[in-house]
Amino acid sequence: MTSAYISGTGFYLPERVVTNDELAAIMDTSDEWITARTGIKERRYAAPGQGTVDLAVPAVEQALEAAEVTVEQIGLIIFATSTPDYYAPGSGCLLQDRMGFGEIGALDIRVQCSGFLYGLSIADQYIRTGTLEHVLVVGAEVQSNAMDLSDEGRDTAVIFGDGAGAAVLSANEQGRGVLSTHLHSQGKYAQELWIGAASSYAKQRFNKEDIDAGRHWLKMNGKEVFKNAVVRFPEVIREALAANEIDISQVKLIVPHQANLRISQEVARRLKVPEELLYSNIERYGNTTAATVPIAMAEAVREGKIAPGDYVVLAAFGSGFTWAAALLKW
Ligand code: COA
Repeated sequence: MTSAYISGTGFYLPERVVTNDELAAIMDTSDEWITARTGIKERRYAAPGQGTVDLAVPAVEQALEAAEVTVEQIGLIIFATSTPDYYAPGSGCLLQDRMGFGEIGALDIRVQCSGFLYGLSIADQYIRTGTLEHVLVVGAEVQSNAMDLSDEGRDTAVIFGDGAGAAVLSANEQGRGVLSTHLHSQGKYAQELWIGAASSYAKQRFNKEDIDAGRHWLKMNGKEVFKNAVVRFPEVIREALAANEIDISQVKLIVPHQANLRISQEVARRLKVPEELLYSNIERYGNTTAATVPIAMAEAVREGKIAPGDYVVLAAFGSGFTWAAALLKW
């Protein structure tokens, strides 16, 4: 039986570090409030003129090198982002051209924070069926120029940052890799974490009224997101474990979407596992939406926290609402 394993990972963060104190200088917030509510101490912002694909390229180069796979060998590009370079075409196409991939499929997926896991699930199906041998999955975001950095936007702006992560999935016959993936959505919560502008319902998709009303900013009902996230994370992690008859005590590491440190702490409590079982780097990068899982996974690999044979759970929750998990035997 062919299965898909992660043959290489990579990540890239833009150089500019933005501390909580820097945000406190431009909006009514404080290091104390942000640290206590989210665990975030700093995040990265792309330089002016640095786009989503610019961040993705070094992450992808690293992942290809680690996998010892060339651009010519990749059979499909899956690009997860909620902040693409342009409204159209997708960032996957731009990456195809920029890095000289073959004239292969390039697919953008827009399921926000769950994007990398949805991408992993698609890649897994292509490899499992023997259709493709190597698939690239990328999560990359430039959110810093899409946030309301005024007092009105402070509840969301302090949370998000920019970054990119990538993984190469490759075929193997040893039973290594993705054991199962589990995807969910519940659109009734669409407006609890959303951007209401550039809408098909508007007379003109891009219009001054939307901008004047601030509908182009990401809006979040933080309490509703929190309440749902702390239920869905444990639920979908348990679903992945049950599908493979694996007990949580056998899991080496859970790599959750880095939404908020308090969410991860509450998830650990509900799963009755030590907080350390859930990987965290949110204090350094904030929430980079589709990029958090591949960045965290790549860092965990480099830190030696994941080794061949380990059971690893990846899990995400975010706008949509969407949520997902994958169980991997590394
Ligand atoms: N700095 C200082 N004060 C802020 C602030 C900021 N950045 N943002 C909001 N506040 C204020 C609010 O205006 C409110 O003031 P009030 O009491 O005078 O009305 C007060 O802090 C408390 O706000 P509240 O919304 O009750 O805080 P909270 O405890 O729910 O924390 C979040 C807010 C956003 C941190 C929290 O709801 C959360 O973590 N939600 C999940 C968000 C998330 O993970 N999103 C990513 C999903 S992928």
